[in-house]
Amino acid sequence: MPFYQRLGDVPRKRHVQFRENGTLLTEEVMGLEGFTGNESILYHLQSPCRVSKLDGFEPIERKEWVPDQHAHRHFHTKDVDAGGDEITGRRLLMWNNDVEISLCAPKQSMDYFFRNGEGDEVIFVHEGSGVLETIFGDVPYKDGDYIVVPRGTTYRFQPEGAQRYLVFETPGLIEIPRRYRNQYGQIMEGAPYYHRDIHPPTELKTIREQGEFPVKVRVRGGYQSYVLDYHPFDVVGWDGYLYPWTFSIHDFEPITGRIHQPPPSHQTFAGQNFVICSFCPRKLDFDPQAVPIPYHHSNLQSEEMIYYVSGNFGSRRGVDVGSITLHPSGIPHGPQPGLAEKSIGMHETTELAVMCDTFNPLKLTRFAKDLDDGVYWRSWHDNAPVSDAGLTSHL
Ligand SMILES: [Fe+2]
Repeated sequence: MPFYQRLGDVPRKRHVQFRENGTLLTEEVMGLEGFTGNESILYHLQSPCRVSKLDGFEPIERKEWVPDQHAHRHFHTKDVDAGGDEITGRRLLMWNNDVEISLCAPKQSMDYFFRNGEGDEVIFVHEGSGVLETIFGDVPYKDGDYIVVPRGTTYRFQPEGAQRYLVFETPGLIEIPRRYRNQYGQIMEGAPYYHRDIHPPTELKTIREQGEFPVKVRVRGGYQSYVLDYHPFDVVGWDGYLYPWTFSIHDFEPITGRIHQPPPSHQTFAGQNFVICSFCPRKLDFDPQAVPIPYHHSNLQSEEMIYYVSGNFGSRRGVDVGSITLHPSGIPHGPQPGLAEKSIGMHETTELAVMCDTFNPLKLTRFAKDLDDGVYWRSWHDNAPVSDAGLTSHL
């Protein structure tokens, strides 16, 4: 994150003696790109390396579905049963070497701590609220929030109420798009959000407790479980540029124009060969000759996944809250027949959706197969039956 934060107590300079009641504290530099990227410096009561027990390693197994045909797809996720916790309940839908996209509707609470040791995470909170307890302090969240968790962050969910997330995990970095920032890192005028919309940890709780504390770490394609003999949230202070934060989709300021604005105007985050965009309620194109819904387009070098969050989908038969459309590369897509004409004169949309465009093909899982309606590809046909009509892409 391109701005500096500090919570708790830190010494006047880095790498000098810092004591509590005479005992030297343990300084940890948590950083990216060797020692040249963003970093934070944390001060622990105990060494974070104090592993008292090595438990098992559980490899990640992906059950791939290779469809017989290349086609547009529509997955219904609303009725997916809750299961697992906020980590084990992540059910992979699609992935490539840059990003994994999962649904999560947990029904158990975490009785361990988690750390993604090999990737950044964006957790879009569709339903629910609570606190993400982290080594950097508490991060309160609510529905509509994107929780951005940099690699290396030890955390545990404390949810309130039913929860439903769309989860992105990436071996790359999650960043604020470069074009939104000036050379000093400040988010510029004209960007669709500002630093005030970004919420770092609010409160650092230093927990002084010995015992047995399981920590599950995603690393080397699986989950390694450790047991620490001291609570992992033993940090008395930290400062730096690396920490978890939230951004609410409701704080995204849509950019509209006299004629149609392209999807990059909705970009929220930049990833490694992918982007995450927010489609928010907004006024539509206002030129008298404008066609307010998009032109057909061919994603020749990208795949487009859209998760429908809320809003009025009345004009989009077949779409529902939790619907996901996937428009893969190589073939065109656009509004269904008649809808471009119907859109003329529309002044606003209430839809709320999260989109992920990847620049490399996505693989699908058998879980996705179970949710695929199998008929969406026909929805552009003039004679498509109503039940097959699907939805129009607004992208
Ligand atoms: Fe599109």
